[in-house]
Amino acid sequence: MSLMELRNVDKYFGTTHALKKVSMTVEPGKILCLLGDNGAGKSTLIKVLSGYHQPSSGALIFEGRETRFSGPREARKRGIATVHQDVGSIPLMSVGRNFFLGAEPVTGQWPLRRFDSALANRVAVEQMQAFGLTRVKSGDQLVGTMSGGERQVLAIGRAMYFGAKMLILDEPTSALGVKEASMVLKMMRIARENGAGIVFITHNARHAMAVGDEFCVLIQGEVAADFKRGEKTREEVLNLMAGGEDMAELEEDLEQVD
Ligand SMILES: Nc1ncnc2c1ncn2[C@@H]1O[C@H](COP(=O)(O)OP(=O)(O)OP(=O)(O)O)[C@@H](O)[C@H]1O
Ligand SMILES: [Mg+2]
Repeated sequence: MSLMELRNVDKYFGTTHALKKVSMTVEPGKILCLLGDNGAGKSTLIKVLSGYHQPSSGALIFEGRETRFSGPREARKRGIATVHQDVGSIPLMSVGRNFFLGAEPVTGQWPLRRFDSALANRVAVEQMQAFGLTRVKSGDQLVGTMSGGERQVLAIGRAMYFGAKMLILDEPTSALGVKEASMVLKMMRIARENGAGIVFITHNARHAMAVGDEFCVLIQGEVAADFKRGEKTREEVLNLMAGGEDMAELEEDLEQVD
């Protein structure tokens, strides 16, 4: 059974037709890359997947059932985790507290219940070591001392720890250098091995091709192409993403990532 499916989803904002008859499927244990230029509708699409927006028409099927999420909170409860690009934007928070943000372990009995920072720190550091973030040795360390890639890895890892079935990653590698990006791509592979269904939003065809199982290219709100790993070359993917334009600019981009 697929994890989530959209069937003929349209989304309007007033007269703006942001999504046009979009159909796509998220499978458990697979990485679906969502590619598209600025304004193509990627953010709108992930907001539909994460319960933030309702489709104007069409169906969302989650675990085999047609579903309407009342909001992001319900989607989260059902195991859909969204990791935003600005993850860890509270630099003065400790790693232990950040790990349990919104799910704090509590010690003692009321009225003495308080955040159990010793437990939180221990679990957070154990988990981070398991994700390969060996540089982080103490849960008291501040998030601001971690690199962008480490923060992404932490966010993906914590979502998995709290039982996410589906991960929506919004441009997780776009602001990162090569080493950092590869660390995040590795973490995505770990999440996939653990059975998560992953939606990977990116502008970077190279990153997409490094980990993607399925690909979906959005152009002006429409699924312009939809294919599996190995069915297209990187050049074909770049051409699709560019919609036939801006190839010079893309060649330049490509040189930078190579
Ligand atoms: N809340 C909203 N109200 C009105 N229009 C919106 C809203 N959200 C998105 N749009 C419009 O929908 C279209 C798709 O926007 P969207 O943000 O989904 O694109 P995107 O692919 O995420 O672009 P980018 O790569 O720049 O983030 C755009 O024309 C945008 O102006
Ligand atoms: Mg966007």
